[in-house]
Amino acid sequence: GIMREVMGIDIMEKKLRDILNLKEAVIVPGNSDESPWVKSELGKAAAARMKREWQGENIIAVTGGSTIAEVANMLTPATNGQNLLFVPARGGLGENVHNQANTIAAQMAHKTNASYKVLYVPDQVSDEAYQSFLKDPGIKEVFSLIKQANMVIHGIGDAMKMAERRKTPLENIKIIEEGHAVGEAFGYYFNENGEIVYKVRTVGIQLNDLKPIQSVIAVAGGTSKAKAISSYMKATPASTILITDEAAAIELIKG
Ligand code: G3H
Repeated sequence: GIMREVMGIDIMEKKLRDILNLKEAVIVPGNSDESPWVKSELGKAAAARMKREWQGENIIAVTGGSTIAEVANMLTPATNGQNLLFVPARGGLGENVHNQANTIAAQMAHKTNASYKVLYVPDQVSDEAYQSFLKDPGIKEVFSLIKQANMVIHGIGDAMKMAERRKTPLENIKIIEEGHAVGEAFGYYFNENGEIVYKVRTVGIQLNDLKPIQSVIAVAGGTSKAKAISSYMKATPASTILITDEAAAIELIKG
């Protein structure tokens, strides 16, 4: 792309870091909206970046989505005897099984010869049902492991696309629409200013839990996600390492 020729990818990474207030930005070439292999490159870059953060004992909380699924596919075992435990970051968010955090945590563990735990908490249940889920000892155990995570790896989605993909009930779609949500992460929906307009009720990591977590890695690319990335970065208290692609980066730098 022209901007890349003018600036160079390292300059773009620094610009993006400053604009979005990131800990670090990593940009891979291309546009994942257009070419599936770019999503694989995002996955590869994220997997490599994750591995660099691992030391000793690690509890890694992961979200769902097709991008994080690509990260799982690209992972390889830890090389310096680090211990890894993968857990889903949050309970059910209505995704199909391939995109679920539980599935991806299991796949990451498989690829790294490590362990994982799953969390069987459906979303969109009654208050009563939800409260009784929280009393389940198995859920409590996983929940307490999630709270000890020292790494989080997560996707960022376009708000309306995510709401539809998750078969969100119409009344909640309305809230998301009327709130002019543009971005989604962890089941939270954000408007352009980074304000939360809707949130899926479930257990696990809440937005405010992210701040003290040592390594927070977001992976999201494609021109279509630029607005979503920008809205989420305004909202998050985390000092984030963003893995993105050139197309999203160009859009974000243009502003
Ligand atoms: O929360 C964000 C979504 O999980 C992103 O999903 O990677 O399939 O676009 P995606």
